[in-house]
Amino acid sequence: MKILLFGKNGQVGWELQRSLAPLGELVAVDSASKELCGDFTDPEGIARTVRAVAPDVIVNAAAHTAVDKAESEPGRARAINALAPGVLAGEAKKTNAWLVHYSTDYVFDGGGEKPWLESDATAPLNVYGATKLEGEQLIQQSGCRHLIFRTSWVYGARGGNFAKTMLRLAGERDSLSVINDQVGAPTGADLLADVTAHALRTAQLRPDVSGLYHLVAGGETSWHGYAGFVIDFARRAGIPLKVGQDAIKAVPTSAFPTPAKRPHNSRMDTTKLQRTFGLHLPSWETGVERMLSEVLEKM
Ligand SMILES: NC(=O)c1ccc[n+]([C@@H]2O[C@H](COP(=O)([O-])OP(=O)(O)OC[C@H]3O[C@@H](n4cnc5c(N)ncnc54)[C@H](OP(=O)(O)O)[C@@H]3O)[C@@H](O)[C@H]2O)c1
Repeated sequence: MKILLFGKNGQVGWELQRSLAPLGELVAVDSASKELCGDFTDPEGIARTVRAVAPDVIVNAAAHTAVDKAESEPGRARAINALAPGVLAGEAKKTNAWLVHYSTDYVFDGGGEKPWLESDATAPLNVYGATKLEGEQLIQQSGCRHLIFRTSWVYGARGGNFAKTMLRLAGERDSLSVINDQVGAPTGADLLADVTAHALRTAQLRPDVSGLYHLVAGGETSWHGYAGFVIDFARRAGIPLKVGQDAIKAVPTSAFPTPAKRPHNSRMDTTKLQRTFGLHLPSWETGVERMLSEVLEKM
């Protein structure tokens, strides 16, 4: 199997470089790649790359993920999140290749408290969500064989993440204020990459699995709950912290105004994915504990 990976240096792209490697020959590019174009603002360039590599599978981990910035540059966000994935889908259709793509719970309006199903009506609240939704639709309309994984609250051990920010602030401040009215499941880039590799194995044998799936870690929490979990873990590990035991204040989203509106309910129902691929999605705590162990070891 020959795999072409776009966005190799993002949180998910980095982990995909590891998890896809045993499946076959892997060609990985990013926006700065010279020999093969990986720049999603250059649709002809990425089409040329697909033709030159002639992959059996295209995996797209590239995206415009700066949710607030997307509000002021909707054209760029649309080019990267919608139009470029549409080009990849067109190329995949021509050669009968698979296209793997990632999307987001931000396609929903975040209302209610029930976990979202793949069949629920979409209604994005911001530019990022709208452009990601258009990307999904262009892939679906192309008729190419595809796996679209909608996920949420992604973290990677490499680079910055929410947990590392909380640890830093907990070392500097007596008290912290963290949002408690957005609920979701922190999901590791490593989990997304591993599930992608397993699902691709199934897809090779069963083309009927082509479709849209919700993919997040098990369980749920708020950003406030997530912060508390991280800080408790660090305290138990003997890391000196300035923040007091009960000094993590729960505040509403309105306490931190941002250009882009965020959904309150990011819960996602993953039954379809678990049943179709025979996989189990571990609790969010399992992945976060593992990431924290790695992070704290370096502190
Ligand atoms: N992060 C989350 O919480 C979250 C939540 C739900 C869904 N998702 C989805 O999950 C997928 C992976 O996200 P992630 O967290 O791994 O994102 P990320 O860490 O921000 O990585 C995004 C990648 O896209 C690349 N990129 C940006 N502009 C590009 C361009 N013009 N051409 C080519 N590549 C470009 C970036 O590369 P350069 O830096 O080189 O430009 C980066 O490697 C995305 O589809 C995202 O929408 C993420």
